Amino acid sequence: MNTPFLSLKQVSVCFGHGKKRFNAVNNVSFDVYRGETFGIVGESGSGKTTIGRAIIRINPISAGEIVLNGERISGSLPSKQKRALTRRIQMIFQDPMSSLNERAKVNYIVAEGLSRDKGTAAGRDEAVAAALMEVGLRPEFATRFPHEFSGGQRQRIGIARALIMRPELVIADEPISALDVSIRAQVLNLMRKLQKQRGLTYVFISHDLSVMRFICDRVAAIHHGRIVELAGAETLFTRPLHPYTRSLLSAIPLPDPEHERHKQVLVYDERIHDYSVDAPLWVELDPGHFVLGNQQELDKYRKDL
Ligand SMILES: Nc1ncnc2c1ncn2[C@@H]1O[C@H](COP(=O)(O)OP(=O)(O)OP(=O)(O)O)[C@@H](O)[C@H]1O
Ligand SMILES: [Mg+2]
Repeated sequence: MNTPFLSLKQVSVCFGHGKKRFNAVNNVSFDVYRGETFGIVGESGSGKTTIGRAIIRINPISAGEIVLNGERISGSLPSKQKRALTRRIQMIFQDPMSSLNERAKVNYIVAEGLSRDKGTAAGRDEAVAAALMEVGLRPEFATRFPHEFSGGQRQRIGIARALIMRPELVIADEPISALDVSIRAQVLNLMRKLQKQRGLTYVFISHDLSVMRFICDRVAAIHHGRIVELAGAETLFTRPLHPYTRSLLSAIPLPDPEHERHKQVLVYDERIHDYSVDAPLWVELDPGHFVLGNQQELDKYRKDL
């Protein structure tokens, strides 16, 4: 676990021009180790998808650097390296309904990323059949259209489409949020199985902290483009330090109606931080447990540890 597989180093992503220019991702740093599932959790608009899209080079970064297995993968790169990256890093999306091309058959959709390869049509069909079987679908499904499938099956098609590329890193952006609760666990279990078999590394994006505890090794909480806390999933759940992480946790429903009736959801108000006089630092307060805060806040977090 010592050398990181993926590193984001002080990465920022800007959108807009002139006065409207803003940092959707602000000075974000984290390391992801090979074979782990690294979670990014935060409310809508906090910059989660923007980070994922920066890693796969859709969103150009305005500051910092992204490194994969020792190679810089952000900024301008030779086209050969860019092509290799489109294979090595794959993304799975939230909405299997809109992320699949409705007019194409499953075999085309799943093999789309392969089409530049020199392989034969028969070879591609074979690869599609193998990928479908690997995600628990029948190879005959290859000649059907996406609308003929359920939400869970469609997400499996999305996973097959990523897998066929033999990626090393998979960015899963809310992969189960659009699915019925009853099939979420199936898709998560499938992702886990594939991770083990293939030694995949996952960056798992979700707004739902309870899913994170189930699937992630470590989790980063992000608010307004800044990571405010990063820790092992269990630590983040049981001993959160930053008030934003605490508010996310307090919003998770518990299966105890009596508790739910009386509970208070913490509301996070970022105005509690006065960073104009005392700038925040990103500090490892306990091994592997990082938190953002100014001196005064860090003193308080140290006491809370
Ligand atoms: N292409 C773009 N152009 C301009 N602004 C953008 C663009 N993409 C995202 N943004 C803005 O950047 C911020 C972060 O968006 P992002 O999609 O990363 O949030 P998110 O955390 O993934 O939210 P959600 O949970 O709703 O998916 C938002 O304010 C969003 O409006
Ligand atoms: Mg998003």
